[in-house]
Order: sequence, then C-alpha cells, then structure tokens
Amino acid sequence: MQDNFRKSKELEVAIKAALEAGKILEKYFETDILKELKEDKSIVTLVDNESEEIIKKIILEAFPVHSFFGEETGMTGNESEYIWRVDPIDGTKNFANGVPLFAISIALVYQNKVIVAVVHNPATRSIFYAELGKGAYLNDKRIFVSKDDAAHSIISGGKSRRDEDRKLCRDLMHDLQEIFKGLTVRDFGAIALDLAYVARGGLEATVQVGLNSYDFAAGTLLVEEAGGKITALDGSPWKFPDNYFLASNGVFHDAL
Ligand code: IPD
Ligand code: CA
Ligand code: CA
Repeated sequence: MQDNFRKSKELEVAIKAALEAGKILEKYFETDILKELKEDKSIVTLVDNESEEIIKKIILEAFPVHSFFGEETGMTGNESEYIWRVDPIDGTKNFANGVPLFAISIALVYQNKVIVAVVHNPATRSIFYAELGKGAYLNDKRIFVSKDDAAHSIISGGKSRRDEDRKLCRDLMHDLQEIFKGLTVRDFGAIALDLAYVARGGLEATVQVGLNSYDFAAGTLLVEEAGGKITALDGSPWKFPDNYFLASNGVFHDAL
C-alpha cells in the first residue's frame, strides 16, 4: 500500500508551519510559563500567541489571498473562500502544566469543507496529516481507525466551558459506561488529539460537545480519511462546522 502521496503546496506549508510552531512549544515545555486567564476563564500563555504568530506568518506568506482564523488573533482577511482555522496550542492547560498531551492544529477549509489537516504534538514527535480524498497519515505512514468493538474500547469526551455542555458531556459519558460495560472513558484535555487518536486507532470514539471549529476542523478530516465515521449526536448526518458530534471507528457507532 502507498505509504505516502504527493503533498499539495497547502499541506507542505501547513506541515512547515506546524513544525516551526512545534519548536517554540518544545522550547517552553516544562519551563515556568506564566498563565493568564482569558475572558471566558480559559488559560492562555505567551506561547499560544508566539505559536499563532509564526503559523500565521508562514501561511499568509505562502497564500496571501487566503483568510486566516486563529484562536488568539481571530480573523485576518475575510474575502477568500479558503480559510485557515488554527489552534496554536490545543490543550494549553496540559502544556502549561508540563503534561505532554497538547497539539498544534491547522486546517484549511474551502466552502465549509476541510481539505487539509495537520495535528502536531511536538512532545511525542507526532505529525498527523490528511488531505481530502487522500487518506490520513502519522509521520508519513498511512493510518486507519481501529476495528475494536465496545467491549475493548476507549471513548473520550471534549466539551466547551459552558455549564450545559459540561453537564451533557458528563451525562453522556456516564450513560455510555452504564450501557457498554467494557467501555473506558477518558478526558485527555486536547480534543485535536482525541480525534487524531481515533484516526490512528488508539481510541474507538470521541464525543465532542460545543467546541470551536478551530479545535476540531483538522481532527475531523483525520478521522474521515482514516475510515472513521462522524455523525451528529442523534445519529443524523454531520457536516462541518456543526459542533456537537460523535466521531468513531464506525464499528459500534450506531449503538453508541
Ligand atoms: C481546550 C481543549 C480541551 C477542551 C476545552 C478546549 P484549548 O482547548 O480542546 O480538550 O475540553 O474546552 O478549550 O483552550 O486548550 O485550546
Ligand atoms: Ca482548543
Ligand atoms: Ca488553544
């Protein structure tokens, strides 16, 4: 099987941006990082901003007519049908606490379809990437979702900071554990990685409740290109950027 393909310029540039931002994250990881509270009470550090700055610079230098939406700087240019959706550190709380579960998440969206995705965790030297219709890869090797059923599975949950989303996620996780006895529930605190792990076959499913499109844009393409399934929570069709969904290996998706 083909282990690699001819990458588009967009993917090459996204990988380059992720690697450069990754160097910044590596430099600061496990150092004393000053944490600040954003308006929504989530944590941000200087590293989030530095990471977004370098990603934005690399992407907009290569594609000056594209739009760029980053978590920390919002929208730059809004005329283009090509929009980059970027989370410069997904899992900032983990990152700032020296827990190596965090990632840079970069997606290119065209007419509400994710066409290029990169999720990079410099702490584990993992670069996940995908292009629409071309498969999903980890460090240049093709990846696929697992074939495990509920009896041996891990499911994770990601939710926004809103009370109703936290409650919904907690209730769903509780109920699923009651129904599927073999199911292990995890909260990794970095939803781009949850989705990348489903794509790589490390997790069987993840439930995402009320997050922002830059959190999950790249991860959803990884799951789909690795052979996984994504639907709305009630099983109806999902489309980007709907932000309540179940992503899984497909094996027991309907039962979930
Ligand atoms: C957070 C992570 C986490 C989720 C939070 C997000 P951030 O992103 O994805 O898994 O539970 O709601 O805000 O703030 O570290 O980019
Ligand atoms: Ca995030
Ligand atoms: Ca972030």
